[in-house]
Amino acid sequence: MSFPQSRPRRLRQSPLLRKMVQETVLSVENLICPLFVIHGKGVRKEIASMPGTYQLSIDYLIKEAQEIRHRGIPAVILFGIPRKKDGRGSEAYSPTGIIQQAVKAVKDRVPDLIVITDVCLCEYTSHGHCGLVKGNRVLNDPTLELLAREAVSHAKAGADLVAPSDMMDGRVKAIRTALDQDGFEMTPILSYAAKYASAFYGPFREAAESTPQFGDRKSYQMDPPNVREALREVAMDIEEGADIVMVKPALSYLDVIYRIRSAFNVPVAAYHVSGEYAMLKAAARLKWLEEDRVMMETLTSIRRAGADLILTYFAKDAARLLRP
Ligand code: PBG
Repeated sequence: MSFPQSRPRRLRQSPLLRKMVQETVLSVENLICPLFVIHGKGVRKEIASMPGTYQLSIDYLIKEAQEIRHRGIPAVILFGIPRKKDGRGSEAYSPTGIIQQAVKAVKDRVPDLIVITDVCLCEYTSHGHCGLVKGNRVLNDPTLELLAREAVSHAKAGADLVAPSDMMDGRVKAIRTALDQDGFEMTPILSYAAKYASAFYGPFREAAESTPQFGDRKSYQMDPPNVREALREVAMDIEEGADIVMVKPALSYLDVIYRIRSAFNVPVAAYHVSGEYAMLKAAARLKWLEEDRVMMETLTSIRRAGADLILTYFAKDAARLLRP
């Protein structure tokens, strides 16, 4: 049937009718809110390029976690800024590291909030790379043991899920093995499986103080033009024991999300990253875009592409609109 028998506009006549035939639903349960935690007390320092996002000391982190839970958001992912950085990223796997303290505090005070931890070395190493470094090279295999130790220390502190973001080969297997050996066989792994070497991480590196001191991350993060390689990374991570796989960033990689969703049956997460957030915030500040509308359109597009879960700095703002 074609026009005039067929008129797609018939189903767009009223808000209620549009809602009835809406194909994609964004709900607050899909959201994960990233938070940055730092040593000290009474610290709540806004990140210049990410308005509305803060480095928080643990006292403020707890307040934020309470509010996030109160708004119906099920989960947070924590990033830590250590007091001291060194060549081996020691604070990443120290039992008294910033993340280990933060996880304990949040699980203690807001027990029904799901706490995910980012497992990586870049915030903790003096060179700012995600693995051990020799000369100008980022070493793969010797890094695995440290990542496994970090993941176990997060689980010991009470983390509900661990999320390796380093992009070393074999890290999911190393982490799964170590968790199982320590009795954490029920702790799921959310792997940053298809993580691209993206310029959209710029603001995050200011927030997490994790800019590489030399070179870039192109020898371990994926090359943006590739998608077959993303499918291979995901297949390997699932094989190694990943429970949820992530694509990162989200917007410039919606096709990657779609391909992964179509090819695999595990839940897919997408990280709407710092630079994607900063772009919308900046345009909204200039009144060039309507913030609430572009936010919801963006998050819904990530769901439509096939993401079950979305990590986003907009989580609280979106929750406000989803659950007024
Ligand atoms: C750590 C990590 C990064 C992000 C999440 N985990 C930065 C990076 O790889 O340089 C980026 C998140 C964002 O930009 O919002 N490896």
